[in-house]
Amino acid sequence: MNTPDIGKNLPSPGHPAVAAYLADGYDSVVGMSSRFAAAICARLLRLQTEEGVHGPIAEIGAFEGRFFIALAHALEPGELALAIDIFSWPNPEVKDRFEANCFRHGINPGQRVTIKGDAGAMRPSDLIGHAGGRKLRFVHIDGEHSRAALAKDLALATACLDEGGMIVLDDMLHPGYPTLMVAVQHYLDANPEIVPLCIIDRETIVGAAKFVLCQRRWFERYQTRMLAIFKDQIWPLGADFEPHWCLVLSQDTRLAQIT
Ligand SMILES: C[S@@+](CC[C@H](N)C(=O)[O-])C[C@H]1O[C@@H](n2cnc3c(N)ncnc32)[C@H](O)[C@@H]1O
Repeated sequence: MNTPDIGKNLPSPGHPAVAAYLADGYDSVVGMSSRFAAAICARLLRLQTEEGVHGPIAEIGAFEGRFFIALAHALEPGELALAIDIFSWPNPEVKDRFEANCFRHGINPGQRVTIKGDAGAMRPSDLIGHAGGRKLRFVHIDGEHSRAALAKDLALATACLDEGGMIVLDDMLHPGYPTLMVAVQHYLDANPEIVPLCIIDRETIVGAAKFVLCQRRWFERYQTRMLAIFKDQIWPLGADFEPHWCLVLSQDTRLAQIT
């Protein structure tokens, strides 16, 4: 695959269209998620495809489309991307900018559905209905950053998740949102069938860390593949979720100097 150079220690996103967008487009779309996280998540979508996991995806908090466009480019023909947002912040024109950005970067209306609304008020049947009756293989949660809203978004994503699906949580361990981790820990305690698959390290304070979650029965299968796919991005010590351990993927894999 002929992949353009997209920066320091970025993995190949696994799709030429995603690589082209990350190299020449990502920065032109206003948004918050990091390019590193976009490359990792696109490659995880590719991994799902390779493992026979197909179907629609969703992003809660699509904003102007920066991360959404990267995810949508990683889909296979016929797979649908759902963009959910209240589309009122910082002004109602944000929805027009989202549509224009998707159009400019080649994500056509037939490949995506725009849903203007409060994710916290959606029922699983609503979301699955928007996806043509299919469960979701990937949900990126990047909506309202409160403990209560994250708990609701996690419940919605879990109820809509297909076999082999992944849930990605934005702004984890962000200094501005320290209580989100409390919601995540409550969720993991209450849902032992879901485990962290990896942590995607921050790029900057705006491009913060993400957690990727998956079904426990898929963990070993995915991690075995990820050890090879992301061998250059694995921080050696990993993440301790007491007692579960998972990979930490970072652009900077150094350990502390102790001598
Ligand atoms: C941090 S921005 C998302 C950034 C975007 N995902 C990116 O990577 O560029 C958060 C978005 O969540 C949306 N949002 C906030 N509360 C929401 C809710 N209850 N339901 C749906 N979207 C919501 C906001 O309108 C905003 O566009």
